[in-house]
Amino acid sequence: MDSKTAIVTGAARGIGLATTQLFLREGWNVAMIDRDAPALETAAAGLEGAQPFLCDVSDPEQVAATVPRIDAAFGGINALINNAGVADFGPIAETDFARWRRVMETNLDGVFLMSQTTLPQLRARKGAIVNIASISGLRASTLRVAYGTSKAGVIQLTKQQAAELGEFGVRANCICPGPVRTKLAMAVHSQEIIDAYHDAIPLNRYGSETEIAEVIVFLCSDRASYVTGQVIAVDGGFESTGVGLPALRA
Ligand SMILES: NC(=O)c1ccc[n+]([C@@H]2O[C@H](COP(=O)([O-])OP(=O)(O)OC[C@H]3O[C@@H](n4cnc5c(N)ncnc54)[C@H](O)[C@@H]3O)[C@@H](O)[C@H]2O)c1
Repeated sequence: MDSKTAIVTGAARGIGLATTQLFLREGWNVAMIDRDAPALETAAAGLEGAQPFLCDVSDPEQVAATVPRIDAAFGGINALINNAGVADFGPIAETDFARWRRVMETNLDGVFLMSQTTLPQLRARKGAIVNIASISGLRASTLRVAYGTSKAGVIQLTKQQAAELGEFGVRANCICPGPVRTKLAMAVHSQEIIDAYHDAIPLNRYGSETEIAEVIVFLCSDRASYVTGQVIAVDGGFESTGVGLPALRA
């Protein structure tokens, strides 16, 4: 049987790169999308079965040009992982419209554009969409007016996709990662924030990129063939708990 093909956006590093590597280990081909050309080139070098595609997912013209190139290169698309994201945290008063748009255009517009553009290919293969939101889309926190709102939008967008695309055999699910030590997270997490997360997370630690990738790849596999419209927090239990966990532990 021919290999399946996944598109992974934001594949040059972090969760996207770990997801690419896991798909390859499971025998898939991967179209690696990123807008950071040098990082993408370095990441894709030596990854057999993967091809890099330089594309900004927030740009409708680039998306429209890239998806047919991927389709031609691999002869079909079985899964789309909308992972590209930006974290730009700030208070409401300091979130000017340009900052708001910068977050929305990648985190929310990008998911919409990539999903809509790959739909004919996904329908043809009865494929799967996995959107990467965040625990910040499930719970409000300070400084996340744009980021948290964009991720809550991704959660709802996933449910809209599942509702409408199920009849074509296309599944759509959403993953909400807890904190993972990637470049994105470390740019906004001080040691104090890291300690506070450890306190609030029942498993008492950050997740790894591979732990997020495992759930993404599962959701794209035939083992998840009856799973759609779901929002899965891969967060060490963070979302399930309330106040007082450190005190109760002690
Ligand atoms: N790391 C965490 O703690 C964490 C927690 C919750 C959710 N997430 C989400 O997981 C996803 C991956 O995060 P990460 O931590 O691996 O980030 P990262 O910054 O390490 O990697 C993100 C990649 O996306 C690319 N990218 C950004 N905007 C893009 C665009 N418009 N077009 C194409 N590529 C673009 C970047 O160049 C980068 O290579 C993001 O959606 C993020 O919001 C991360």
